[in-house]
Amino acid sequence: MNLPDLQEAKKRSNAKPTIKDALNLKSSKFKGQKFFLKTYGCQMNVHDSEEIKGILNNLNLTETLNLNEADVIVLNTCAIRENAHDKVFGFLGRIKHLKREKPNLIVCVGGCMPQQTSVAKLLQEKYPFVNIVFGTHNINKLGEMLLNVNEKQNIEVYSIEGDVYENIDYKRDSKYSAWVNIMYGCDKFCTYCIVPYTRGKQRSRLMADILKEITNLKLDGYKEITLLGQNVNAYGKDLSEGYDFANLLEEVAKIGIPRIRFVTSHPWDFTPEMLNVIAKYPNIMPYIHLPLQSGSTKILRLMGRRYTKEEYLDLYNRIKETIPGCSITTDIIVGFPNETEEDFNETLDVVKKCVFDGAYTFIYSPREGTPAALIKDNIPLEIKEKRLQTLNNIINEHSLKHNEEYLNKIVKVLITGPSEKGENKVCGYTETMKLVNVIAPNSTIGEIVNVKITEAKSFSLDGEIVIFENIC
Ligand code: 5AD
Ligand code: SF4
Repeated sequence: MNLPDLQEAKKRSNAKPTIKDALNLKSSKFKGQKFFLKTYGCQMNVHDSEEIKGILNNLNLTETLNLNEADVIVLNTCAIRENAHDKVFGFLGRIKHLKREKPNLIVCVGGCMPQQTSVAKLLQEKYPFVNIVFGTHNINKLGEMLLNVNEKQNIEVYSIEGDVYENIDYKRDSKYSAWVNIMYGCDKFCTYCIVPYTRGKQRSRLMADILKEITNLKLDGYKEITLLGQNVNAYGKDLSEGYDFANLLEEVAKIGIPRIRFVTSHPWDFTPEMLNVIAKYPNIMPYIHLPLQSGSTKILRLMGRRYTKEEYLDLYNRIKETIPGCSITTDIIVGFPNETEEDFNETLDVVKKCVFDGAYTFIYSPREGTPAALIKDNIPLEIKEKRLQTLNNIINEHSLKHNEEYLNKIVKVLITGPSEKGENKVCGYTETMKLVNVIAPNSTIGEIVNVKITEAKSFSLDGEIVIFENIC
């Protein structure tokens, strides 16, 4: 058993990460058996689940979406807010009876939550039916842990700064749009955030390895890639190789994959060179997710965000000037300790000035082990909820306003799959990351098509396919 430790996780050294080859263990031990995988949290977790699926497939397990059919259940968890935590324990409570009915069922809990000592201890003490507990640093060892599973619970979670794995055998969810990790971990230590502890020190992948992965994705017919990192603009800072995110973006653009996206950007590390590269290459999509968190400089300081309200607004305006038509979305937290009505109004002021294309909004959730959790949470829940509601009303109004600008326009949409909005519909995203439901046959899935927008809603657009005829 190897328990994690948030104190240990805080340590940062200047040592370069070790680059290792993924184990990609193959075995027929589970031939004919099925796994059920549930993913909580961010895109990083979604992509980690593609790694988990690759590992399970290599052990000859096939995926089922029916929990009752599963021989192996894996929960890939998120620790960012308390509700993510509650959902996982709720799910474990509900599946306990399955284990009684099917004693050979293997239950695994992995990802961010077990990186917290309290969670690992709780799993040990109250959930002995969970067979395997793994963290974010040893996803790669899940195959080995499964092959060695026995009746004793195996908790293996490391509070290390983390390595970088190459040549991972992903089982990707899409054949057209792929996630590509460019870095792991985060060194920003925003005071409310658990991520630098659960995911470790910032570790950038070498540019050559990233370019090789993307070149192979292009050869496999992928139309879109999204570069992934907690803080992509800081890419390369830990490497001393003499290149940064602007250089990486430019080299990725030159590979010629039709659509390049990236998440998440931190305003602190956004350089003019990055904006120039995005503006220069038409295959870098005009869409930036730029978390604001708060519009009050006082709260931003308490959050450890390293920018002021004015600096955020200045960057926002520079993006709009340099990349015409760029859509910008954001993340905002309300009810951070000591957030007064005035502070909240500062947030509303930024929101009204920026008119974001969309925003993910959250009520502050104290995370054990972070500096903010030590500040007295002095805002009553009703006030936090009221602020969230006020904010959401404005955000939704703005989102609708942006969507209405698309009415009757023809836009390029990468069709990614069937739509939930009707049998004769497919769906996909515009270059600016607007979800569009399109009346079109399934044969368009995987294609970039021209779509005329016929209806605008707050969270999506409707459209129909436009076929240009060559009149000559
Ligand atoms: N409470 C509420 N929201 C949080 N986020 C991160 N940590 C917390 C927390 N403790 C939000 C931030 C971040 C997004 C991924 O989640 O807005 O950008
Ligand atoms: Fe968390 Fe801040 Fe790092 Fe984002 S930049 S992952 S909010 S510490």
